[in-house]
Amino acid sequence: MPLPAFTPRILSGIQPSGGLTLGNYLGAVSRFVEMQESGQYETLYCMVDLHAITVWQDPANLRHNTRELAAFYLAAGIDPAKSALFAQSHVPEHAQLGWVLNCVARMGWMGRMTQWKDKAGKNSENASLGLFAYPALMAADILIYHATHVPVGEDQKQHLELTRDIAAKFNNDYGVEFFPITEPVIEGTATRVMSLRDGSKKMSKSDPSDMARINMSDDADTIAKKIRKAKTDPEPLPETVEGLEGRAEARNLVNIYAALAGVGPENVIAEFGGQQFGAFKPRLAELAVEEIAPITGEMHRLMADEAELDRILAQGAAHARGIAAPILEDTFRIVGMLPRQ
Ligand code: TYM
Repeated sequence: MPLPAFTPRILSGIQPSGGLTLGNYLGAVSRFVEMQESGQYETLYCMVDLHAITVWQDPANLRHNTRELAAFYLAAGIDPAKSALFAQSHVPEHAQLGWVLNCVARMGWMGRMTQWKDKAGKNSENASLGLFAYPALMAADILIYHATHVPVGEDQKQHLELTRDIAAKFNNDYGVEFFPITEPVIEGTATRVMSLRDGSKKMSKSDPSDMARINMSDDADTIAKKIRKAKTDPEPLPETVEGLEGRAEARNLVNIYAALAGVGPENVIAEFGGQQFGAFKPRLAELAVEEIAPITGEMHRLMADEAELDRILAQGAAHARGIAAPILEDTFRIVGMLPRQ
């Protein structure tokens, strides 16, 4: 039976665990803004604070990081008049559906998640139960809105496949066509921004070397220095995109340039092919500073008025609850919970 038509709706989230990188901007938030502006979807974006506490967070830091992330979304172009922007914990339906989905997802499925294996490492006995159940809560974030599309970076692909499996198993177990089979949206040149020190590793806030990443809080000098020192090979930039094959670091810098400039890698190669990195890197640094500095400045401005930020988030949560509450009620009814009088 074909699935019923769902309203085109986007949900995505970012963990407020501190340290926002250029990867979060190019791989996620800049795409969220594009999708908001496309006018083709209802858009909901959140700070996944419940996910953040699956590993230890100092409470004061968590509060700060959650507001900072809200400021980042807004500074990058998320418009509260067009998108719901909210803290996950302010919409209790996420956790409530999360419980139901914990009962649908299988231990074996969760155990295969590479993020679980990476984060729990060899010491999984000591990892939190929440870290293991993380992807089921992520599925709930998406399915509580019947979201049809989820923009993310490449590293979240496996979690989105699991979300589809969980939705399909729920529909099958209860004989309903209730949850949509969500489409991941992993598009653009920056779905996997790599470390500046090692082109085989993702740019990550948890990398021990600060030189490996560009933080959204870096000033112009720091950004320029990190790009100048970024690892490259001795060859000039190739004359064709195919020439980037096997040159992970060169490819990464070209992709970053392309994403920042809003063009394809072929345009970057057309402009810089044959040139040395000594010529390319200053241009890349200039572009990066041009893009990042206004966002950082606006984040500072927004962070100075916490009451206003909190007001925007309260408004976003109220809007989100308006969508989530009836879907949770239907879910409970399907599962067999008594109706609340
Ligand atoms: P998180 O907080 O690790 O990352 C947030 C978003 O940034 C993207 N990203 C990158 N993209 C390209 N290159 C990089 N180097 C890079 N680093 C991070 C991530 O792919 C992600 O899109 N589990 C999620 C948060 C989450 C979520 C959700 C996402 C919770 N519930 C529901 C979508 C829908 C996470 O940990 O993202």
